[in-house]
Amino acid sequence: MVDLTRFDDVTTVWRCPHTSVQIGGKGDEHYHLGTVIRLDGEEHARRRKALGVLLARRGHAVFRAKWLYPTADAALDRLLAEAGPDGAEIEVVTWGRRISQQLAAAVAGYDAGTTPDGASKLFEMSQVMIAGRPSVLKVISGGIDETDPAHVAGLEAKQAIIEMFHKPALLRREVLARRAEAGEIDATDLPMDFLMLAAQKIDPAWNDPTQVERDALLLMGAAVHTTTNSLVWALQEIFAWLKRNPGRADDLLNENFVLRLAQESLRLHPVVPGLSRLAMENIDLPSGGVLPEGTVAMLRSGEASADPAIFGDDAGEFNPDRPSPKKISRFGLAFGQGTHMCWGMPLVIGSGGIDGTLVYLLKKLLDAGVRPLDEKNAAFDLDGARGRHEFGRPEYRVRLTGKPVTSAELATELSH
Ligand code: HEM
Repeated sequence: MVDLTRFDDVTTVWRCPHTSVQIGGKGDEHYHLGTVIRLDGEEHARRRKALGVLLARRGHAVFRAKWLYPTADAALDRLLAEAGPDGAEIEVVTWGRRISQQLAAAVAGYDAGTTPDGASKLFEMSQVMIAGRPSVLKVISGGIDETDPAHVAGLEAKQAIIEMFHKPALLRREVLARRAEAGEIDATDLPMDFLMLAAQKIDPAWNDPTQVERDALLLMGAAVHTTTNSLVWALQEIFAWLKRNPGRADDLLNENFVLRLAQESLRLHPVVPGLSRLAMENIDLPSGGVLPEGTVAMLRSGEASADPAIFGDDAGEFNPDRPSPKKISRFGLAFGQGTHMCWGMPLVIGSGGIDGTLVYLLKKLLDAGVRPLDEKNAAFDLDGARGRHEFGRPEYRVRLTGKPVTSAELATELSH
């Protein structure tokens, strides 16, 4: 395995057609085998096209409007309504996960996971599943131990999710698909989610029920921690930035500036340690070396997104005012590159940037007057965490004052 950290090397391999993501092995049959992240070439293009209908033509906006805004708004309104004179306390990791899980359940079509209680249950079960799911490195090296209690518990949790959330929802859609075919209902009245596509067998691979299970679980796995961790990093970066720039709190009222803050945070805080690709032939790297055929490259997107050659000498610093490099996104390689670029990006970023999940949730919190709860929870030294993957905080408590952000008030609080 070769680590690549330069922006040019990483993007070259990411975009190279002579690479493969079929680097599975023992253990993959339970989780990732045949899913979009393990498909190459035409099979991959067919799966992306099939999945594409869900978010295309502003489908991403429909999901957000129906499943994100009401959930996020209701939770905060409830908290603020019950707030005392000092405001209300909120643990952002749990809040973000619950909302992301509901949205992810809606995208997958897991009806029972779209309520707050259902999402919490689904999240708990998914945590056990994810804890037992072998890492890509384990799968590649064949080092998976089937007797490991975490592995066994993970598979049990997966089966429980299938029984409780997956099967009833799929059955409902199979009935609807038959009724639509028979002309009893209009095709436009069918639900718009992954399981509906699967019930209609839009991709022939979905004739295999276990493939449908793996695909639905992948979509949910890809959506929840990514969005939540990015939200929590962005919030911490915003507090730290305000502390350094106490006179600029009013900038937070400008949603385009909030977008800049979110993009800069996404660039510096990758959601995974790296993405692996197998070289199918020798690949010339811009740095001068060659990635030999048969080698697995680990694309370190966090390090590459903080490459000074692209983002300047202060690439490793959080600077929302940095000029945008030509033809390169402000969020760097946060969502990948090439054909496997993040499928969920339109949900997270939206169409103009400011209507995506991340900016919406940040704005929601800022509008509710979010403050670090105490010194322990206040922004800590983030320098060491930038430009590489870190899991982030298991919890992050903040206070909502209910009052909009004002320079003087925040500056005083943050300077303590
Ligand atoms: C801040 C949030 C997110 C970040 C930073 C992120 C990042 C990424 C990255 C870097 C990849 C590329 C993987 C590779 O090249 O192998 C990826 C792929 C993917 N993401 Fe996301 N993601 C986010 C949210 C989401 C959401 C909300 C969903 C679904 C609702 C999602 C679904 C996917 C899927 C299905 C793929 C695989 C695409 C393919 O292999 O063709 N992601 N994501």
